[in-house]
Amino acid sequence: MLVLGIESSCDETAASLVEDGFTVRSSVISSQIAKHAQFGGVVPELAAREHLKNIAPVVESALREAGASLNDIDAVGVTNRPGLVPALLVGNAYAKGLAAARNIPIVGINHFLGHIYGAFLENKELLEDKNNFPILALVVSGGHTAIVKIPADGKASILGSTLDDAAGEALDKAAKALGLPYPGGPVIDRLSKEGNPAAFAFPRSLTGAAGKAVSPEHRFDFSFSGVKTSLLYALKGDESIVKTRLNDLAASFQEAVIDVLDMKSRDAAKAIGAKVVCLCGGVACNSRLREKIATSCQKRGRRFVCAPPKYCTDNAAMIGGLAWHYLKHGGNADVFGINARLESSLGTLPFAPLA
Ligand code: KG4
Ligand code: ZN
Repeated sequence: MLVLGIESSCDETAASLVEDGFTVRSSVISSQIAKHAQFGGVVPELAAREHLKNIAPVVESALREAGASLNDIDAVGVTNRPGLVPALLVGNAYAKGLAAARNIPIVGINHFLGHIYGAFLENKELLEDKNNFPILALVVSGGHTAIVKIPADGKASILGSTLDDAAGEALDKAAKALGLPYPGGPVIDRLSKEGNPAAFAFPRSLTGAAGKAVSPEHRFDFSFSGVKTSLLYALKGDESIVKTRLNDLAASFQEAVIDVLDMKSRDAAKAIGAKVVCLCGGVACNSRLREKIATSCQKRGRRFVCAPPKYCTDNAAMIGGLAWHYLKHGGNADVFGINARLESSLGTLPFAPLA
């Protein structure tokens, strides 16, 4: 079954053709980063206008790259939640029009679950074996930071999430404070390679001594506003350090964020007896984070899975792929039942495990 995936929840217009959930025949992404960079972040109305311009050419490119035509598409999967509603509306309207005109099924996909699925696009065998469950997913993007438990029945539950900024958002804001361009995550990643992560003692939020949780109810929650404030104070004391110690500042800030992600995901994996730890979302591109979580897993005998960067940041292959699983389980929605939504109801991840 050939599914057309469509993604427009933030500042990437993406389309992808995915066969039977795993074979990515094309994945086209048109990024608007340059348009939003001058504002230091994504402007929702501007994003919507850009999606409108890009959606048809992006779908056409995806078809061309796959050597397919509209007649070959069996179903459409579209991100319908959560995200910037004006941006989501464009992809949803396009997908609904296409599904109605071609009289094919359409499924609304949760972007957050799409990110988790992205890690399995090239790891099908992991989903085929019940013994690989429960899986623990650490979802780290510009909009989300959460620890998710995925048991063998696919009933995903959130064990913890951020109380304020997402990890990517914190990195982007820190970069802005350091005078670096948007999006700052990749720049901080690059600068950190030449910096000392122990140069500045930024706090490890919601953790006490030796990484122990501050309070049981926030055991797996995150907060990144404190570490951000701490960076601002460091700069306030002496602004010249941005010029003289930029690499150390970047490396120390990044390490403070990553340490908490590592500590909490490690504790959560232990608590649920996770067999596999999956790292996903845009921040999963971060080289230090990948290295740290991989090492933690290796030490504890857990399998570590992370998508290549092209399936970590926003893309439509993760959407088209996940849509196939819902369709296989009879979850195709009525075209008028799909609506762009701000909230993020999780529901069941139907991919776990493949029969
Ligand atoms: O998943 P994504 O493309 O969009 C959202 O759903 O939010 O994630 C974007 C986020 C941005 O905050 C960006 O700075 C961050 O991912 N990011 C990185 C890296 N590459 C992208 N953060 C740290 N290191 C990277 N290499
Ligand atoms: Zn995303």
